[in-house]
Amino acid sequence: MKVIRSVAAMQRESAAWVRSGDAVGLVPTMGALHEGHLTLIRRAKKECGRVVVTIYVNPTQFGPKEDLARYPRPRREDLALCRKAGVEVVFAPENLYLPNHSTWVEETALSQGREGASRPGHFRGVATVVLKLFNLTRPTRAYFGQKDAQQVEVIRRMVRNLDVPVRLVIVPTVRDADGLALSSRNRYLSPEERTVAVKFASLLQEAALRPADSARWLRGQLKRVAGLNLDYVELTGDRLCAAVFVGKTRLIDNEGLRR
Ligand code: PAJ
Repeated sequence: MKVIRSVAAMQRESAAWVRSGDAVGLVPTMGALHEGHLTLIRRAKKECGRVVVTIYVNPTQFGPKEDLARYPRPRREDLALCRKAGVEVVFAPENLYLPNHSTWVEETALSQGREGASRPGHFRGVATVVLKLFNLTRPTRAYFGQKDAQQVEVIRRMVRNLDVPVRLVIVPTVRDADGLALSSRNRYLSPEERTVAVKFASLLQEAALRPADSARWLRGQLKRVAGLNLDYVELTGDRLCAAVFVGKTRLIDNEGLRR
């Protein structure tokens, strides 16, 4: 497995891949890899001759009061997991922004509301870095998790609007045995907080079985859970999306309504 840290080396590698004609699968991540990320990687391995995983904690998608500095960065473990999964290249740059960076990708409709409302500028950062990663790695297919539902919507729209030549593959949310959606942020949770987080996941699942009043019902239930602060519950199309704080940790999850 090759670990690439410079933009120039990544560009050389991806140019060679394009010449070879092999299908390239991209799995963009911020590291602290878990079974959710590994499921994306395994799917990419199945469908593409070459797989590149990017590990980059993208500063431009974090708000000034968010967890950028303390975001987990277990580099050695991440590389070991990628190696074991048969990844061909890990692209783990130090920094992707020049000091005079002044060009942004802004999706202006689907990025409003939900995460966009709670995290101003978040999707501008995501769309910009994802397009940069597409340009640097030149993938045939790129793999994203349904866990981040609005992120999928925004990237899908960007790809269509800007004619980006990549096929998006969306992978269902991977959950722990207790139902909690896997997330790099789960490692912030104390055992007591984890119990509250599991309650959040199970109420969301239950709400998805009540298509008539899912959002209203879930809001009511979540407000009654001690140790949980509701950020939002929103029904978007047929998908119920929610964000909560458990202690200082912000968790998001979503589920399709079961009609
Ligand atoms: P990160 O949170 O590391 O997630 C990387 C990818 O893994 C995303 O596509 C995310 O949706 C997916 N993922 C995370 N948890 C998952 C789970 N439990 N089940 C299925 N998929 C899961 O999302 C980002 O990084 C960043 O915004 C990024 C796209 C890398 C841009 O910086």
